[in-house]
Amino acid sequence: MIRPTRHTSLITSLIAIGAALVATLALANPASARPLGQTPRAATAAPVAATPPMGWNDWYTFFCDVNEQLVEQTADAMVSSGMRDAGYRYVNLDDCWAASTRDANGHLRADPTKFPHGMKAVADYVHARGLKLGIYEDVGTKTCAGYPGSYGHVQDDADTFASWGVDFVKVDWCNVPFGDFPGLSQQQVAVKLYTAYSQALKATGRPMFFSICEWDPKLRPWTWAPAISNMWRTNNDYGSQWSQTLANLDQEAPLAQYAGPGHWNDPDILMVGKMANDTESRAHFSAWAMLAAPLLAGNDLRNMSAATKATLTNREVIAVDQDPRGAQATRLSHTDAADVWIRTLANGDRAVMLLNRGDTTTRISTTAQAAGLPSAGAYAVRDLWAHRTAESAGVIAASVPAHSAALYRVSPLKDGAGDYPPATEVDVDPQVPPAYPGSDLHVAKAGQTITTVAGFGDDGRTAVTDATLNLTGPSGWKIDGRPVSAPAVSTGKRLSGTWQVTVPADAGPGSYTLTGTATYRWGDGAHAATARTESTVRVLVGPTGSPYLSDLSWLSATNGYGPVLVDKSYFGGPLTIHGTTYQHGLWTNAVASIEYYLGGRCSRLTADLGLDDSVQGQGSVTYRISADGRSIYDSGVVTNGTPTAHVDVPLTGAQVVRIDVGDAGDGVTYDNADIAQPRLTCADS
Ligand code: GLA
Repeated sequence: MIRPTRHTSLITSLIAIGAALVATLALANPASARPLGQTPRAATAAPVAATPPMGWNDWYTFFCDVNEQLVEQTADAMVSSGMRDAGYRYVNLDDCWAASTRDANGHLRADPTKFPHGMKAVADYVHARGLKLGIYEDVGTKTCAGYPGSYGHVQDDADTFASWGVDFVKVDWCNVPFGDFPGLSQQQVAVKLYTAYSQALKATGRPMFFSICEWDPKLRPWTWAPAISNMWRTNNDYGSQWSQTLANLDQEAPLAQYAGPGHWNDPDILMVGKMANDTESRAHFSAWAMLAAPLLAGNDLRNMSAATKATLTNREVIAVDQDPRGAQATRLSHTDAADVWIRTLANGDRAVMLLNRGDTTTRISTTAQAAGLPSAGAYAVRDLWAHRTAESAGVIAASVPAHSAALYRVSPLKDGAGDYPPATEVDVDPQVPPAYPGSDLHVAKAGQTITTVAGFGDDGRTAVTDATLNLTGPSGWKIDGRPVSAPAVSTGKRLSGTWQVTVPADAGPGSYTLTGTATYRWGDGAHAATARTESTVRVLVGPTGSPYLSDLSWLSATNGYGPVLVDKSYFGGPLTIHGTTYQHGLWTNAVASIEYYLGGRCSRLTADLGLDDSVQGQGSVTYRISADGRSIYDSGVVTNGTPTAHVDVPLTGAQVVRIDVGDAGDGVTYDNADIAQPRLTCADS
């Protein structure tokens, strides 16, 4: 988003000084104070933030569209969905709850249209359901969306929140008047302002969770925020793209040492239910649990799918997040394709996450020893999504589908253990070629034949017997090849086979599942067992006719602030460049990158490119367009003064078109770049 920060003009400073005077007067004259009783409640014994907070935040689904019905209905949904019973407590309002001005006495007030009964009534409603209320403010003169900030009013605002019965305060980092702090670095200003906020909240006497939303990782909040707050952001705003989950996860790889009971790294609000699919949502939730991250759901709790609810309420995964030791996971290994993360739990168990970062199914493995567990004859490996336990001789491995994670709780087994079936692995590897040479995108076309290799391995202490492995696919898919069998598969050994899989000629776009199924016996033949793994083949079909890019589903989209927006700017209005408004297009903020699948069907792309008129700042960006990795357009530096670029580029034969918006090397402030009327010319059928 646009952060209209760093206003150091004289006018802004004067406004701030005036505001500070009003606040001082208000404090000096308590008679002018709030209508509600200001006496803070006595502190309760319950520690704030002993484990990471769990709850909900409205921002990424509702932005400024908030009101008391939303909060109350969300509180009801938190109860009826079972989320409260699973540990969720906070119902948190983000920006835009406040009236645009303070009251005559300088106190904050809720927007009377959005909250006609006032914030105290909303808090009472939430509390009556055994839940807690969170609210949002900013250390600057205004919030990020332009509502009154706490600068010069900190104690008064903290007292207001306490008087309303607020339990959680998120404090943002927009519109900070750095000019008032000559000689101080931005980090020093942050420490000063957030320390004052922390003290003001404490001075109210009401325990309130303090969430620092200083979103600039350059200021390294993890080095100063633990002493004064309960959580702090470790990254800038993000979105629901897989790459954004990975970026925020990666950012925390070196930060484990800063988290612990009472104070937590915050990789931002959950995107469960907002990711591309349920598998990605589960992986994202697994990762946040490993990070001991705050679990603040960011979806609409009133309308969520059964899968989203099941993900958010998976108690075994929540138990990892909420483990009382509070030791954040560390990363044991990392490549572009796969990560292994380990978290030490209070009882000595290890949580192990095998994360497939990439676009194809990958076998990922580690060992109990590498996870730091003591030497033992065998280990119990509990799959926290399948809710099943198996016994391993020490290997912890799985064939992990694209963009997903396996999550285990591993503990040493005492001698003589043998109650669990042996840990086994089934892997299915459809060898779909890349969309073009060097591409990470593996998509199948209708009619294509794909060689698929599948395997079955034993990681238990003893051999399994009578093993058979087969591959099946969706109806209409032709699978050539027979099941493979072996009388026994011993520890560390693998049974494998190869099949030829043909996509039906009339297959539509979608993700299709191939299933590898192994049947075997264990425990000296006493027990029969089945193990399965699914792998997806993605089939895509290029566009027809003359569609707008913005009407198609993208392959991937990353953005500087928040998500790439379709047909509107960040402030909700239409895309506008130099006074021309556009019905169609994409709003981006550098550094952004968006890819679309063309399947070789399109010949041309036209678009108007330029910075959006909504913020006339010092933004500067570059646009680059490439087809199958080859550059076909480069705008050079574009500012608000650059005439609109009318682009018309050939795409002939390209599988993928990609548009990159760069920051022109001067940072990302005001870099709000439109891709307006982006229109393709493609084959008609
Ligand atoms: C910033 C924060 C977000 C959200 C918005 C509200 O961008 O980082 O989490 O609070 O402000 O305007």
